Amino acid sequence: MSTPAAPAGFARVCALGELEEDTPHRVEVDGVPVSLVRTQGEVFAINDICSHANVSLSEGEVEDCQIECWLHGSSFDLRTGKPSGLPATRPVPVYPVKIVGDDVLVSVTQES
Ligand code: FES
Repeated sequence: MSTPAAPAGFARVCALGELEEDTPHRVEVDGVPVSLVRTQGEVFAINDICSHANVSLSEGEVEDCQIECWLHGSSFDLRTGKPSGLPATRPVPVYPVKIVGDDVLVSVTQES
């Protein structure tokens, strides 16, 4: 059986079943580090690098649709990438996600 082609600009990054609820999953999409988070019935894709320093967000905790940077504690909204508090002041890029069957597709060429 052939796999349907991914929509233009989107790349398959993993199977939906690989994502555990509220546990960030780091992937690379076209050389861009991305943290995938399955939470509250949705899958979000956020750039994996904190906007405050060069730290992997996927090592942080997920709560209330936010991912917390483990180093200094800023949390970023998974829907918008905006920080909810200092020390980070700049948002982190977030990317559109599509679920096709059991495939998780992400586009890093368009920020959502
Ligand atoms: S490195 Fe993320 S909040 Fe400082």
